[in-house]
This record gives sequence, structure tokens and C-alpha cells, in this order.
Amino acid sequence: MSDLFHQINPEKLPAHVAIIMDGNGRWAKTKGKPRVFGHRNGVIAVREVTEAAAEIGVKYLTLYAFSTENWSRPAIEVNALMALLVDTVRKELATLNKNNIRLKAIGDLQKLPEKTRKALLDGIEQTSKNDRMTLILALNYSSRWEIVEAAKSIATDVRDGKIDIGSIDTDLFSQYLTTRDFPDPELMIRTSGEYRISNYLLWQAAYAELYFTDVLWPDFRKNHFYSALLDFQSRERRFGKTSEQLAEAI
Ligand code: FPP
Repeated sequence: MSDLFHQINPEKLPAHVAIIMDGNGRWAKTKGKPRVFGHRNGVIAVREVTEAAAEIGVKYLTLYAFSTENWSRPAIEVNALMALLVDTVRKELATLNKNNIRLKAIGDLQKLPEKTRKALLDGIEQTSKNDRMTLILALNYSSRWEIVEAAKSIATDVRDGKIDIGSIDTDLFSQYLTTRDFPDPELMIRTSGEYRISNYLLWQAAYAELYFTDVLWPDFRKNHFYSALLDFQSRERRFGKTSEQLAEAI
């Protein structure tokens, strides 16, 4: 294990880490290859980070694999990404089970190609008993879509008399989001030197620490992940309180 690994305090880990895996296309371009080559190498980084997170004790890891906006990319790239997802989920299933990792997905899965959806649902079902870590793929996901869907469901339940308007609060609203079964991410990482959240877990990341790195996703390795965890552990999380109030609470 690396030096960085040993510096991490296992008692102060974020329970949930969310990642925006960015820079696959640019990585491929620097090598004079098509964008799909970048995505294929991105899978190596997915494997590394999943392993690192599970080994160290992170309980939830959410990866932004495909946004609702990504459909506007050239068809050849969209098709390749969908095929890569099928391939990766199928190939990694045995490893997920061996490592006791549960697969989940958030997003509008109905609109995925049938093959991709099936591979994903099979993977979710076949790993459903695992409890060391939950790996959540955000697929055809965007926060605004999710929040609008939640608003529609709440409106329907009010109309049908299942809930009172007065009972709508942040806790209830959270229960209508696709992430209802997971804690909020405490650390959000974005690679490739872009400083945006891009419609990703906007509600859930209300108090997340944000970590940006210039590393392009296909180059992201365990040590980069450890650096992000160490950075997280160096921050003071105040949740709107003052430093003095936090010190008094200890
Ligand atoms: C962003 O890079 C990456 C994506 C939109 C897709 C991420 C997909 C993978 C890493 C492969 C499959 C994933 C799983 C979970 C099996 P970009 O294309 O936006 O790069 P650019 O900003 O340099 O153009």
C-alpha cells in the first residue's frame, strides 16, 4: 500500500464519494486516437477507484457514467459508450461479487437501449446481496430531471390524498429522489480541470466538499483517489455553524 494510503484516517472517511469522470475525449486526443479509446481506458480508472474505495472502507461510490445531455454526442460515440457499459458490467460481475460490492443505478433507465438496460438490471440483481460497498452508476441521469420527477410524484401523492402539503419538507423530498436509499455524498470529485457540477446530484451535494484535479479520467489511479480523501480530511465541515460551535461540541 502506498504512503498516501497510510496517511488516511479510516475513522474520518466520507461515507459516500461521488465522481464526475471527465477528460476521456481529451486524453484520447493527446494520443491521436478516437474519443472511444479514451472511454475504454476510462474503464481501467473505474476499476482502480472502485477497488480503492472498497479496500479503504468507503460505503457508497457514485460515478457519473452518462448524463441526459450526453445523447447529443455523435451517434457513434453514444453507441460505443452503451456497448462499453454492457461489456463492462458483464465482465466485472464476478469481480464485484468476489469483492462483495453491490451494483446500483440512478437515472432514467427506461430510455436506455434494451441491451444496456438488461445488462445493468442483471448486474444489479446478481449483486443485490453484497454489502461491503455500493457502486452506483449514474446513467441517463441529471439532477434537474430527477428533481422535476420528484415534484411530479409529490404532486400526484398530494392529489391522491397520500400526503399533506404541510408534511413536505427536505426529508420527505429526499425520499422522492432516486438516491433515497443512499446517504448524501460528502465528497465530490471532478477530474480534468473543469470546475463545474454539471447537473450532478445538485440536491444531494448541498454540503459536499468539492475536489477538483487536472488529472484526466483515464489517468486517475488509486493514489489520486487517496489524495482526494486526504484533502477531504484536512477540511473543516461546519454545516453552517461556526468553528467555535464545532469545537464546543467535541
Ligand atoms: C467524460 O469524458 C466521460 C464520459 C461522458 C463517460 C464516462 C464513461 C466511462 C469512464 C466508461 C464506462 C463507465 C463505466 C462505469 C463502465 P468526456 O468524453 O466528456 O471527455 P472530454 O471532456 O475530454 O471530451
